[in-house]
Order: sequence, then C-alpha cells, then structure tokens
Amino acid sequence: MTEFTLDDLMFKPGLMKGQRILITGGGTGLGKVMAEGCSMLGADVIIWGRRGNVIEETAKELSDHAAKVGGGTVTGMACDIRVPEAIHDAMDQVWAGGALTGLVNNAAGNFISRTEDLSPRGFDAIANIVFRGSFFVTLDAGKRWLAEGKHGSVVSILTTWVWHGGPFTVPSAMSKAGLNVMTQSLAVEWGGRGIRFNAIAPGPFPTEGAWARLNPGGGVGADGEKPDPTIPLDRNGEMRELANLAVYLLDPGSAYVNGQTIAIDGGGHLKGGGGFGRLSEWGDAEWAAARDAIKGANEKDRAQRTV
Ligand code: HXC
Ligand code: NAP
Repeated sequence: MTEFTLDDLMFKPGLMKGQRILITGGGTGLGKVMAEGCSMLGADVIIWGRRGNVIEETAKELSDHAAKVGGGTVTGMACDIRVPEAIHDAMDQVWAGGALTGLVNNAAGNFISRTEDLSPRGFDAIANIVFRGSFFVTLDAGKRWLAEGKHGSVVSILTTWVWHGGPFTVPSAMSKAGLNVMTQSLAVEWGGRGIRFNAIAPGPFPTEGAWARLNPGGGVGADGEKPDPTIPLDRNGEMRELANLAVYLLDPGSAYVNGQTIAIDGGGHLKGGGGFGRLSEWGDAEWAAARDAIKGANEKDRAQRTV
C-alpha cells in the first residue's frame, strides 16, 4: 500500500524532475517510502533488492501511484549488494538509462542477539550487507560520477547507535558506524568534485523487516507500534517525515549540507534511548525464543530471493 499524497510532502510538485535516484533495499519499509516520496515529486527512481517479486511489485505500485500525480518512474532490479560484480553489472544497466543524480544506501540486515551467541557467519550476514555492500555500491557509483565529472548526492541510512553504541545489535552498530565515518571521509575527499555525502539516523519507524528481527514475537501492528518510553516526543516516526528528510538531502536545494548525519528520532538518543540495552534482563529462554522467531522471518524472506 502506498503511504502518501502530495500534501504529505513539504515540497512543490515537480521538485525532483530530471533527477535519477538509486535506492538500495527500496522494495520494502523505509526504502519504499523514500522511493515513493522521490517519484511523486518527479524523480525517476531505481530500487534494488534480492527478492525479485517484491521489487517488481513495489516498482509497479509506486510507478502507478506517481503517474497519478505527474511524477516519475520507479524501476525495480534484482541485485544482491553483497556481490561487487553484481553491483557493477546492475550499475551498468542503471547508467545505460542516464547517470544517477543520487544514491540512498538503505539496504540492511539486522537481528538482535547476545554478542557471545554470534558465529563468524552471523557477523558476516549483517556486515556484508551494511558495511561492505553499501561501500561497494557507493564506490561503483562514485567512480562513474568522478569519471564523467557529474554531481551526485549520497544519503546513507544509519541508526543513532553510531553515537552511543548498540548493545545486542553489535554487527549492525559497528557497520553503521563505519558508514558514518565513510560519510565524513568522502564528504571531504569527493566534496570538491561535486559528490556530497550525508546520512540519516532514524529512531523507530515500525516496518515488517525490522520488527520481525528486532521485536520478534511482537510485530508491526501489535505492541510493536507502541512508542519506546524513552522518546521525548512519545511516538514513533511517521514515514512521510523520513521521506521529507531524504528528499531534502538528495535535492540540490540542500547543496551546502555535506558530511552530516541527521537524527530523526524524536530526540530519543539524547535521552539515552533508542537502543536495546534493556535486553540485559533477558535470560536463556527469552533469547532462544527470539532466535526461533527471527529464524522464521529469515527463512520466509530467503525463500523469495531470486538473486
Ligand atoms: C544469532 C543468527 C540469528 C540470530 C541468524 N543468525 N539469525 N545468529 N541470532 N537471531 C546467524 C545464522 O545462525 C547463521 O550463522 C548466519 O546468521 C546467517 O544466517 P542466514 O539465515 O543464513 O542469513 P541470510 O540468509 O544471509 O540472511 C541475512 C540476515 C537476514 C541478516 C540474517 O535477517 C536478512 O537478510 N535480513 C534483511 C532484512 C533485514 O534484516 N531488515 C531489518 C533491517 S532493520 P551460522 O554460523 O549458524 O551458519 C535495521 C533497524 C535498525 O537495521 C534500527 C531500529 C531502531
Ligand atoms: P526492511 O524493510 O527489512 O529493509 C531492508 C531492505 O534491504 C529490504 O528491502 C531487503 O530486501 C534489502 N536488502 C537486504 N539485504 C540486501 C542485499 N544483500 N542486497 C540488496 N538488498 C538487500 O527494513 P527497514 O526497517 O525498512 O530498514 C531500512 C533501513 O533503515 C535500514 O538501513 C535500517 O538499518 C534503517 N533503520 C530502520 C529503522 C526502523 O525503525 N525501521 C531505524 C533505524 C534505521 P531483500 O531481502 O529482498 O534483499
């Protein structure tokens, strides 16, 4: 289901006409709503993910929606960002339609786990998507922009854990912190050559993908939608609020903003909130139940992957 009307977005219709934006993991959750916001405002958007059916369905749904308001197109491509060669091939196809003007590093994997329960493969399952995959996508697009002397805006979706750590989500927190440093480093290295880098650190925005692995057993639609009591604004984020921030950072209207990571979390991290420190109270039984529930979600998604 689509989320917005043009009135939900704080920008003039047609703002992003002529822009071409790649959003990794754009088939679901936050990636999907950012794709929706950009395409409704006129951008042509490309979304990547591993489940071909999910990507195709979302691309069709969002294209139809954008067409009704004079927006741009949404094209889906199955691509696994853990594989640098697959990124390169998919990027060739993207570039064949024209150079990108923006990239959103949004694809991620995550699950809660006691760190002592992680195997090397468990760590890699997350780090290979978030840390390595996002860097390889950035590098592939970046080289093309540099070679052609074109401008680009890169927005990476992080978490507030980049500032205060992420107990029980250590591979994700470490990987996102790496992307935070990539944002700051490349803002300097490539900023003068027309490529700017910013990041968004969202607080809780209930999505199926995140809640199945971070709130196993709860789920979106159940108590998963109750706000974390540490959030000063006493509510979760609204999807249109995230889409508005992403559009702002992608659009040349924010051209002087470079190297910044902006929290959109109702002030949660300032009150010491937003993480999973409270899970210190869990014992073996709770962790076993969580692992089983997460396994179910992972197996269901894996069965749909086409790459
Ligand atoms: C410990 C676990 C585990 C768990 C899996 N593993 N779940 N270890 N506790 N709960 C281990 C497995 O045992 C295995 O290691 C290894 O991880 C790989 O497992 P697979 O199931 O084979 O992984 P794979 O199919 O590659 O799937 C990757 C995934 C999966 C990351 C595990 O969740 C995924 O693809 N997710 C994509 C979508 C997603 O996660 N969205 C949420 C983003 S939300 P062994 O050694 O046993 O073989 C987000 C929100 C942040 O980031 C902020 C919220 C406030
Ligand atoms: P989500 O719906 O599970 O989104 C993750 C997306 O990444 C999925 O569409 C998934 O599709 C894709 N993906 C995963 N591995 C991939 C790979 N190897 N190659 C290509 N695509 C891949 O979860 P979400 O909540 O919207 O999360 C989106 C982003 O927001 C993530 O970066 C997350 O860390 C961040 N975030 C979310 C919240 C929140 O509250 N929801 C808070 C802070 C930060 P496939 O499985 O089909 O590949």
